[in-house]
Parts: sequence; structure tokens; C-alpha cells
Amino acid sequence: MISTKFSVLAVAGLLAIGTVAAMAQDAFTPPATPEEAVTQRQALMREDGGILRQAGNLTGAEAVAALTKLRDNYSHIPALFPEGSIVGESEALPAIWENFDAFTAITEVGVAAAESGIAAAEAGDAAAYAAALQTIGGTCGQCHQQFRS
Ligand code: HEC
Repeated sequence: MISTKFSVLAVAGLLAIGTVAAMAQDAFTPPATPEEAVTQRQALMREDGGILRQAGNLTGAEAVAALTKLRDNYSHIPALFPEGSIVGESEALPAIWENFDAFTAITEVGVAAAESGIAAAEAGDAAAYAAALQTIGGTCGQCHQQFRS
């Protein structure tokens, strides 16, 4: 009994630590309004473009840091597109919410490619790193073609 209780507490403690660590690495506040969603996602897109442009010249820890940021950004894309959030200067298409699974699948390809790019940078595998960047770059155009006006 005592040991069961202890392990439940231990797991709860570990989960709490994990949550704090995740927040420290990747502070993300989902948008509260459609206007906020548009502003946040347009800024994120521009940031990703900047990261991708630089990433080809980076190696080692700098490459890992760049692709970690890009991976985190990609993982937030679905949350930045709440249903029907086409307001102001948004170029988002309604097709996003008609095919949200396809939309999300593209972001998942980007997350997976960023993960493999991180592993490649850690291993010093320049060819695998370049291939990962190419895959990530492909997701930009693939998504825009279907989901941006
Ligand atoms: C899963 C879909 C998706 C992916 C992946 C994606 N984009 Fe976008 N992007 C969009 C949509 C949709 C918009 C329009 C957003 C809006 O205006 O509300 C957009 C807008 C943009 C904009 C215009 C931002 C502005 O200031 O108006 C830029 C620049 C951009 N994306 C760059 C990129 C780059 C670079 C990548 C790849 C690293 C990328 N995007 C990946 C869907 C995507």
C-alpha cells in the first residue's frame, strides 16, 4: 500500500516537473481571438522563413537550436488556426477547416523532418541535415498551394 501510494506521488511529481520543463523550453499561449490567431500565425510563418533561410549555413548546436525552434513552431500551427479565423488581412482559405486532417498532416511532416534534422545535426551528418531542410521547405509550398490564397 505504502509503496503504491509513493509511486503514484512520484509519477505525479515527475509529470509536474515535465510540464514545467516543457513550458520553460517552449512558452506558447494559444490565441484568444481570431485577430490574435492571424497576428500570431503570420509572425510565426515569417519567423520560420527566417530560420529556414539561415539553417543551411548552421551546424552543430546552432543548427539544433534553429530546428528545435522550427519544430516547436510547426507543432503550434494547428492551434493557430481556430475554425473560421479568417479576419482582417488573413490569406487563410476555408479549405483548411474542410480538410483539417490534411492541413495538420503537413505540419506533422514538418515536425518529423525537424526532428530528423536535429538528430542529423547532433550526429554531424550534413547530407541528412540538408535532406531534412529540403523536406521542411517542401511543406511550406505544399501547404500554401492548398490552404493560402
Ligand atoms: C500547414 C500549412 C502551412 C505550412 C506548413 C506553412 N505555412 Fe506559411 N502560411 C500558411 C497559411 C494558411 C498562411 C496565411 C495565414 C493568414 O494570413 O492568416 C501562411 C502565411 C505565410 C506567410 C505570410 C505571413 C504574413 O505576414 O502575412 C509567410 C511569409 C509564410 N506563410 C511562410 C512560410 C514558410 C517559410 C513556411 C515553411 C517553413 C510555411 N509558411 C509553412 C500555411 C502554412
